[in-house]
Amino acid sequence: MTTAANSVPWELQPPMAGETTFPIEKIRRDFPILHQQVHGHPLVYLDNAATSQKPRAVIDAISRYYERGNANIHRGVHFLSEHATEEHEAARRTVQSFLNAADKREIIFVRSATEGINLVAQTYGRKHVGSGDEILITAMEHHSNIVPWQILCEEKDAKLRVVPINDRGELLVEELPKLLTKRTKVLAVTHVSNALGTINPLRKIIEIAHKHKVPVVVDGAQAAPHLKIDVQALDADFYVFSGHKVYGPTGIGVLYGKLEMLEAMPPYQGGGDMIRSVTFEKTLYNDLPYKFEAGTPNIGGAIGLRAAIDYVTRLGMDKIAAYEHDLLAYATESLSAIPGVRIIGTAAEKAAVVSFVIEGIHPHDIGTILDREGIAVRTGHHCAQPVMQYFRVPATARASFALYNTRGEVDALVEGIQKVKEVFA
Ligand SMILES: Cc1ncc(COP(=O)(O)O)c(C=O)c1O
Repeated sequence: MTTAANSVPWELQPPMAGETTFPIEKIRRDFPILHQQVHGHPLVYLDNAATSQKPRAVIDAISRYYERGNANIHRGVHFLSEHATEEHEAARRTVQSFLNAADKREIIFVRSATEGINLVAQTYGRKHVGSGDEILITAMEHHSNIVPWQILCEEKDAKLRVVPINDRGELLVEELPKLLTKRTKVLAVTHVSNALGTINPLRKIIEIAHKHKVPVVVDGAQAAPHLKIDVQALDADFYVFSGHKVYGPTGIGVLYGKLEMLEAMPPYQGGGDMIRSVTFEKTLYNDLPYKFEAGTPNIGGAIGLRAAIDYVTRLGMDKIAAYEHDLLAYATESLSAIPGVRIIGTAAEKAAVVSFVIEGIHPHDIGTILDREGIAVRTGHHCAQPVMQYFRVPATARASFALYNTRGEVDALVEGIQKVKEVFA
């Protein structure tokens, strides 16, 4: 079939045989938004943990879909509907392979990581958590992996318990066996902390939880752009991520769940597509994954996400991780050398995030002055207020890196910080 939303043309050429360096110049050309001035300076975009920029391949895939491929899926016999359905399912297969899931029915399209966690809390959680039961989370979770569980605990009269961290921002994994009790029904843990950059030793954590027969929900929002994920090797029961942090569009996210878990769960939302048959007396639910996909999904979003995953896969997640690791080491060294700068989060295993404070200067002032230099960082509590409370800071400034950032941009950040210090000298 030759139409519309057919496959994405690659601007990024595959590396030549023997090419080992990261094709950073080629990559930067793929991201149109990077090539602009902000307040008279070249944009230095270091707010990637909030959302990452989109390569031309993603922008094109989305506009091609709306220009030539738009139709509703699953319920049409006409050409465009069938084609949109194929594209949507192709996106599911791409996500399956990105996560190394065993079965494509284990991939549920949702709005975001947030919605994925809420789905698990409100279906698996509601079914299995009762009065006096416990839900275990960690001290470094994003609010989206705290609040859905608190809502469930309130509803069910259950208790939220928390695995502590140390002063480097590392999880105290040795505390885990003590906190996993007969009442623990779920462990919800982030793969990578958005506020600290810590990479958690997930395999070990999941192994310990499973020894106690506790299923594990993994928040992979900050891992998906930086690490190769293998849900089977991890043995994760649930894994969520958001498309927009992995170079895809907003409004599309993924919940992975083990088939047997998803099958045993009640539906989340009711509506079209999630049913097999409806009468006023009884509704029979659809098979997986559609049981959890009520209503018209974000078809264009799934197509954009597919293009994004194809983009990073073609580059190679291992290569991306190695490049970003180098960049993080350089940024850590450069920022640590500035007098008065304190890095919050110094775990041995980190990904792409440098959170910092400057003595005597509020993070919002840091962010505002950096912005005048064209440098975008995030300041605030990063939706992780308990992390701020632990480190006794009201907020931090956070530089977070993506595959298109460079050492030159780290240098620009360092210069910007010097300017901030001069202003407040
Ligand atoms: C660790 C972590 N979890 C969850 C989320 C929520 O992602 P979204 O807002 O895309 O649902 C974020 C977003 O910053 C995050 O950093």
